[in-house]
Amino acid sequence: MEISVTFLLTGCLIQGVFCGFNINLPERVEALEGSCVFIPCTFDIDQKYEQDLTDSAKRIWYKGILYQGKTTVVFDSSSPDTGLFRGEIFGTPTEKNCTIRFNNVEQKDKGSYYFRLETNGRLKLSYPKTIEIVIIDSPPKPTVSLFEDQEKVKEEMEVMEGSSVNLRCSTKIFCSSRPAVLTWSSSPEHLLKESVTQQQRQNETELISDLIFTVTHRHHSATFTCTVTHQLQKKIMKQEYRTLHVQYAPKSTSAHVSPSGFVLEGRSVTLSCSSDANPPELNYTWYRDTEEHLKPVQTGQNLTINNTDPTHSGRYVCTAQNTIISKLDLSIYTTIYIHMVKMFDGELFFEEW
Ligand SMILES: *[C@@H]1O[C@H](CO)[C@@H](O)[C@H](O)[C@H]1NC(C)=O
Ligand SMILES: *[C@@H]1O[C@H](CO)[C@@H](O)[C@H](O)[C@H]1NC(C)=O
Ligand SMILES: *[C@@H]1O[C@H](CO)[C@@H](O)[C@H](O)[C@H]1NC(C)=O
Ligand SMILES: *[C@@H]1O[C@H](CO)[C@@H](O)[C@H](O)[C@H]1NC(C)=O
Ligand SMILES: *[C@@H]1O[C@H](CO)[C@@H](O)[C@H](O)[C@H]1NC(C)=O
Repeated sequence: MEISVTFLLTGCLIQGVFCGFNINLPERVEALEGSCVFIPCTFDIDQKYEQDLTDSAKRIWYKGILYQGKTTVVFDSSSPDTGLFRGEIFGTPTEKNCTIRFNNVEQKDKGSYYFRLETNGRLKLSYPKTIEIVIIDSPPKPTVSLFEDQEKVKEEMEVMEGSSVNLRCSTKIFCSSRPAVLTWSSSPEHLLKESVTQQQRQNETELISDLIFTVTHRHHSATFTCTVTHQLQKKIMKQEYRTLHVQYAPKSTSAHVSPSGFVLEGRSVTLSCSSDANPPELNYTWYRDTEEHLKPVQTGQNLTINNTDPTHSGRYVCTAQNTIISKLDLSIYTTIYIHMVKMFDGELFFEEW
């Protein structure tokens, strides 16, 4: 009887139709050595054989390729404890479910597998489609990607301060009695605690953890590391990290005077401005704060006044600009006071407030 169905199927295949016999299973599945393998599977039969299919039908899994060499029964639903594999078959035959989990797979279990249905009636059929089980000895690293406005940002690309980003860690889900766990860490450490939203989710194939936050200059050169922990017979951890590159306007612009302290009249003094920015190329401008307005004195980081005299006393303002600040049209400035006092013996000194 089986033969007639097989011939029937072959005849149908020649005509390019499946006669209602069909099976849905992945072509390939990866399993971690020492762990389990889960094969989602459903089948269909030709309507003519519907009445043959009862819940007493046997669902059998074979290792090998149908009609090609030796094949071996690895699991038989009628005696699940006698096959080569210990495992569990899900659903029922009438639900047309052939989903199976094999426990504790090893390297030698790699290869092709196929499904066979045996009813008490005429219908006894091996489905020729195979699934390939690949055994990997160590879980892969997770993947870390950065998104800005849903767009993936390349590794070396810079993101703008103030923008909202999503740092995503994803890892393939493997069959396991204990699910894998994703955790984040950061360097500097405190960045993870600062207004970062963490979201975890998973679908059939991947476990995903998102970090959503607004970029500040403090994220420049910061590193975020995602660790996946697999609880197999022993704990296996794999990590991947991502370093952020942030473009930011000048920060902590400051000025200082050299030499500080007493300066003799007629000596020179240098006012120096500095700032932190990315891109680090900065245009500095020095202004003199007169009573009415800021009077530009010179561009450049250092303002040197030769031949000092009492009229040089007053407030000086320095601004620092990089391309980011030009874009944002901001003005970041710092001020410094030079105060000249006539000394009893005619000397002057600068006082830095
Ligand atoms: C088959 O069984 C699996 C495991 O119980 C279940 O997730 C799946 O939904 C079932 N499929 C059908 C078509 O019933
Ligand atoms: C699971 O999610 C990932 C990332 O969002 C996606 O690439 C993949 O196609 C999804 N898989 C399924 C089965 O939905
Ligand atoms: C300005 O002065 C500082 C401190 O003396 C020095 O490091 C810097 O190179 C100077 N900058 C320029 C453009 O000369
Ligand atoms: C101050 O003196 C230095 C060295 O003599 C000279 O290079 C510089 O041009 C002078 N600066 C001004 C503003 O006169
Ligand atoms: C600095 O000033 C020059 C001249 O105005 C300009 O061409 C350049 O783009 C400026 N650079 C920055 C970083 O703002």
